[in-house]
Amino acid sequence: HVIHRHDYQAPTYWIATVDLTLDLDPAKTLVTSKLAVKRNANQPHGPLVLHGEELTPLRVMIDGEPVSFRQDGNELTIDAPDRDFELVIRNTCCPEKNTALSGLYTSGGGFFTQCEAEGFRRITYFLDRPDVMAVYTVTLRADKTKYPVLLSNGNLLEQGDLDGGKHFAKWHDPFPKPSYLFAVVAADLVAREQRIRTRSGKDHLLQVFVRRGDLDKTEHAMNSLIASIVWDEARFGLPLDLERFMIVGVSDFNMGAMENKGLNIFNTSALLASPATATDADFQRIEAIVAHEYFHNWTGNRVTCRDWFQLSLKEGLTVFRDREFSMDMAGSPSARAVQRIQQVRALRAVQFPEDAGSMAHPVRPDSYVEINNFYTATVYEKGAEVVGLYQTLLGREGFAKGLKLYFERHDGQAVTCDDFAQAMADANPGSQLASQLDLFKRWYSQPGTPRVTARGQYDAESHRYTLRLSQHNGKGELPQLIPVRMGLLGPEGQALPLQWEGELASHGSETVLLLEQTEQAFHFVNVLVEPTPSLLRGFSAPVLLDDGLSDAQLLNLLQHDSDAFNRWEASQRLALNRILGAVRAGQPLVLDAAYLDAMRAVLRHPQLDAAFKAEALRLPEAAYLAEQLQVVDPQAIHTAVEAAWTQIAQALRADWEWAFEAHQVSGGYRPSAEDAGRRALANLALSLLVRASTLSGEPVWPGKAYQRVKDADNMTERFGALAALVSAHAPLADAALAHFHAQFAHDALVIDKWFMLQARAPERDGKVFERVKKLLQHPDFTLKNPNRARSLLVQFCNFNPGAFHRADAGGYVLWADQVAHLDAINPQAASRLARAMDRWATLAEPFRGAAKVALQRLAERSTLSNDVREIVTKALEVA
Ligand code: ARG
Ligand code: ZN
Repeated sequence: HVIHRHDYQAPTYWIATVDLTLDLDPAKTLVTSKLAVKRNANQPHGPLVLHGEELTPLRVMIDGEPVSFRQDGNELTIDAPDRDFELVIRNTCCPEKNTALSGLYTSGGGFFTQCEAEGFRRITYFLDRPDVMAVYTVTLRADKTKYPVLLSNGNLLEQGDLDGGKHFAKWHDPFPKPSYLFAVVAADLVAREQRIRTRSGKDHLLQVFVRRGDLDKTEHAMNSLIASIVWDEARFGLPLDLERFMIVGVSDFNMGAMENKGLNIFNTSALLASPATATDADFQRIEAIVAHEYFHNWTGNRVTCRDWFQLSLKEGLTVFRDREFSMDMAGSPSARAVQRIQQVRALRAVQFPEDAGSMAHPVRPDSYVEINNFYTATVYEKGAEVVGLYQTLLGREGFAKGLKLYFERHDGQAVTCDDFAQAMADANPGSQLASQLDLFKRWYSQPGTPRVTARGQYDAESHRYTLRLSQHNGKGELPQLIPVRMGLLGPEGQALPLQWEGELASHGSETVLLLEQTEQAFHFVNVLVEPTPSLLRGFSAPVLLDDGLSDAQLLNLLQHDSDAFNRWEASQRLALNRILGAVRAGQPLVLDAAYLDAMRAVLRHPQLDAAFKAEALRLPEAAYLAEQLQVVDPQAIHTAVEAAWTQIAQALRADWEWAFEAHQVSGGYRPSAEDAGRRALANLALSLLVRASTLSGEPVWPGKAYQRVKDADNMTERFGALAALVSAHAPLADAALAHFHAQFAHDALVIDKWFMLQARAPERDGKVFERVKKLLQHPDFTLKNPNRARSLLVQFCNFNPGAFHRADAGGYVLWADQVAHLDAINPQAASRLARAMDRWATLAEPFRGAAKVALQRLAERSTLSNDVREIVTKALEVA
């Protein structure tokens, strides 16, 4: 059943208030829901059709009188009167059987909820759509010893004891909200608490609830929350609007976290951190996700989505906000650039393939079968890029003005992406956005990554430089508005002043060109030397750029560009050209001295930060390399990338030794950008030293790495050393893995890392594949916990192409089997795994044929969920 954006209709009834009572029992929870139903006079009268899934209805009453109802699949139909009325529904649900983790479920002996997108209908019958906003009062009743903590959204009104060892709590959330923001927790938890007073002079209670043993891992999350609150008030004038703000951690959770009003629920992997158990990357991710969920309080909760096609309205905007926050927290310009580099690396590795594959969809999709399949990199990350385009076009101040108007107009409403764009334009009359709003909005409606081609022509005689830009969009797609931030460099790397034809004044050394047609030429005058163009600085638009630059020009940019992002980009392009050259020619990769010298110069550079060096020396992701090819042989890419690493390891051996020693961090562990950068570079050095040593049979560096696995005083260094051994297939790898496992056997999040590392190791003679098959039988492995299932299966199938794509189709057979098993337990998790085949149609033979067989085999199963069915069907439609 396909749902289309254009079919949106306001509901026949609204729901003004919800009075919900839950008698919590794992086997049978009794739900009593009292609703103030209002007729929507703008729609013709008709029956009240409520959503409900996996529920048992007990009775339905209108204004105190029992009425009949029909249950048909996932709908409950009531012949309701043509007026306002009170509706009371009693039903039961079964939290302990809810392995899909959507709705009300049990985890670790407690009760938790996940209602976005359509989980509330698995708790009680409701108009489970985001435009129906109600004020909730919630009473929870449960056994007091097993569930001492009873939480819901808003403020605690009352609590007390009941007969039979039970107790109750009554919560009230004054803000009207859609059902997807409803949440309940009943569990044996403890809280880290902090009272704060915000700028406005209001006092707030902040709480982070976790299992007893985890309290010492909540300090970073609490600090991140406080920083987020301060930042949102300072940067956008958006204050915390609640007396109490709670975060709860749960080990079984399908996503990172959820922004339920006043009661955010987090996957423990996105919440818990200590230096001993979490890496720098974990610390960074936790800060970003805590901020993300907090920022949703305004962008998502105060102003929400009219329908799920508008998902990027809140997700793209909130990712943009958490990125801005993370960059401000990172501090220095170089640390900001590193953040941007990491965003773009992820965008290219995940969103670009998505946008070119079977699940390609616009930032604002036009149709879906299962909305959970659209919590994608396109909606989130490309959506954030699109929000970034507003800021590029309007400037920081103009953007802030637009956001202010958006809240003035829409606070308390459920709105659309068009409403957001309109507020941005109206707040900035006279801007290029306002004059070209329809053109701009193609970013929301057209799928695919625009391809931009740039060619420069220098006339030494007239000192004119002409830059021709053209864009190629998908079949039948129109040109988009593409801001190209740029500058020109002279042969010595000096920034050249930019001067336009017909204008006398120089415009500094950087500008933003607006590409709005299929082809445009930009004329610069008084260019005294042949320039090297530095285009798309800071990755000013999410496009694929072909600038045709020579090695010499790329080296110039790598050494001298004032834009750190483009310096990094030059490093990536130098590597990409070489790797793709070898793959296309079917020849072994041989890295030339010019490239290796350039990399050595980066590594030894006296001014560049360690974090930047680590990014510049890292090779492009296999998934991004694959996107540059018409026909993809994953084994050829894998072989070339491995050869590149080995040559970089061997040719720069002495430099890596220096780098490792020179970037040790002394003193206690701090997750600061600076220390993290040093550790990142030292870890990269160690991994290449272990690689080179393992190949030549030298024991020193593998021995050092093994010692680190045992002795390191923080997880970043310990895990870096373990990764070095495992990815080099060093003889000590097995012993190190065993040691690590024994040491952290009781910490599920660390054991997840242990699985992940083995699932993502670079393939060598089929060893990684064999190991993954063995790990499926490991006593610690289970499909029931999404983190664990992801650590092994998604990491292997979706992110380890060199191991997954096998000429004997073994990876595909494993994939099809595991998708089917997982689907019976948790369709959302299975559906994510199913996405491993998005790009099967571009594979070379024999991979392509084998992938198709696996897809067909899966599609033939009669029991697939809607979630997986949609992914598999779309994959098979490609060819
Ligand atoms: N809104 C949540 C977040 O971005 C994610 C919820 C995802 N839910 C889902 N069913 N896929 O922060
Ligand atoms: Zn979000």
